[in-house]
Amino acid sequence: MLSNQENLLSKMATGNGHGEDSPYFDGWKAYDSNPYHSKKNPHGVIQMGLAENQLSFDLIEEWLLDNQKASICTNGGVSEFKDIAIFQDYHGLPEFRNAVAKFMAKVRGNRVTFNPDNIVMSGGATGAHETLAFCLADPGAAFLVPTPYYPGFDRDLRWRTGIQLFPVVCESSNDFKVTREALEAAYERAQEANIKVKGLLINNPSNPLGIVLDRETLRSIVTFINERNIHLVCDEIYASTVFNQPNFVSISEIIEEDNVQCNRDLVHIVYSLSKDMGFPGFRVGVIYSYNKAVVSCARKMSSFGLVSTQTQYLIAAMLSDQEFIGRFLVESRMRLAKRHRDFTWGLSQAGIKCLKSSNAGLFLWMDLRKLLEDQTFEAEMVLWRMIIKKVKLNVSPGSSFHCSEPGWFRVCFANMDDKTMQEALSRIKEFMLLQNVGSMAQTKRMFRQQSLIVSCSSSRFDELMRSPCLRSPQSPLIRATN
Ligand SMILES: Cc1ncc(COP(=O)(O)O)c(C=O)c1O
Repeated sequence: MLSNQENLLSKMATGNGHGEDSPYFDGWKAYDSNPYHSKKNPHGVIQMGLAENQLSFDLIEEWLLDNQKASICTNGGVSEFKDIAIFQDYHGLPEFRNAVAKFMAKVRGNRVTFNPDNIVMSGGATGAHETLAFCLADPGAAFLVPTPYYPGFDRDLRWRTGIQLFPVVCESSNDFKVTREALEAAYERAQEANIKVKGLLINNPSNPLGIVLDRETLRSIVTFINERNIHLVCDEIYASTVFNQPNFVSISEIIEEDNVQCNRDLVHIVYSLSKDMGFPGFRVGVIYSYNKAVVSCARKMSSFGLVSTQTQYLIAAMLSDQEFIGRFLVESRMRLAKRHRDFTWGLSQAGIKCLKSSNAGLFLWMDLRKLLEDQTFEAEMVLWRMIIKKVKLNVSPGSSFHCSEPGWFRVCFANMDDKTMQEALSRIKEFMLLQNVGSMAQTKRMFRQQSLIVSCSSSRFDELMRSPCLRSPQSPLIRATN
């Protein structure tokens, strides 16, 4: 359909900059066509491809019932309705920025403070990344990004801005550590290709690895970007999902260390409430920049992606309730830790290992290399198709995260209830048992010849990218052919 439109529409509208043909998104569509429900569709696909944090919603719901004034559409809050409905200043409600600044500090153990004037609102971290890319680089220039990385970065930083992402290749042999050597090598390769490097993008804690960057690595990153005089964008949206040692260290702590030389104009943090609070639907994101010129430009651009004032009002009230937020953050981490423990244990019983240093995030980075027929990305796709079609689990293959080695898969564990997790584990165990039965090679051969052909409209796709898929409506989005 799009090819008919090529002369009619812009290159952006007809191109594939959005990246919707990646397996990362195909798996979501597979789920959408046949979603699991314990009673209504017990043989459906279980969604394990969505990094959502749904484990502590009961606490939020309780708070909402006790604080009706914060929701202006209630008897308790309607008196504020008019003022909120007409407010549209792109600086945001002062109480919102103050509350977010305090919350960011709390999540970082109050070891650092944040100035509300350096905060710019955006439509989630997604909007924050794009706005920063617009502010920091011209089309054609590049940002270095350690692999594996969150597939959405390709859309967020590249699509509409015309900038490029250049991989810093990290490897399993040292648990995907971001080494100085890997950074240097990527920088050199970009130079050889005549690409101007404007910055480095890091994600700490990492999606998909579920690990944190240690202090030494962060210091070496800060030294690297200062020596090259390039920007550093730190996506810290999983900051409060760190449920085990070692603790999370924010870049804001490193640049305040006495012995670290840093031009702070180069440092920018991306944050949102999508993961730590579990609110991707609210689209609350922020840029926190130490560079006044970036703050000023980003604020002007933020007109394209403001957070609704109604949401600001609610969030300001919730985040300012110190007792509640303190309790919520502790409880949420405890529940994540338990889920992580149960799920890792279940996988180990099935003979599956995960990245061992994992202590954060809403997912595990599974090592399925031993299940590959050969160590290629083609074999990874064969296995992935089999997991979706036979085991009926939507997990995401490492290739969609630009992983340099085939055989790694990300599996999300915090977007479902305990029963669904147990069902997923029993399917995985059954699947692994099959490994010992001779039929496996034959099954793989069958899946090598199959492809998942996906048809999906862009608007529907965007909806999918945002939707809480536990409640996703059913629509036939996928056709699997032999
Ligand atoms: C590392 C990372 N950055 C950004 C985003 C987008 O977050 P938001 O929903 O706040 O736009 C995600 C979502 O999964 C993510 O994992």
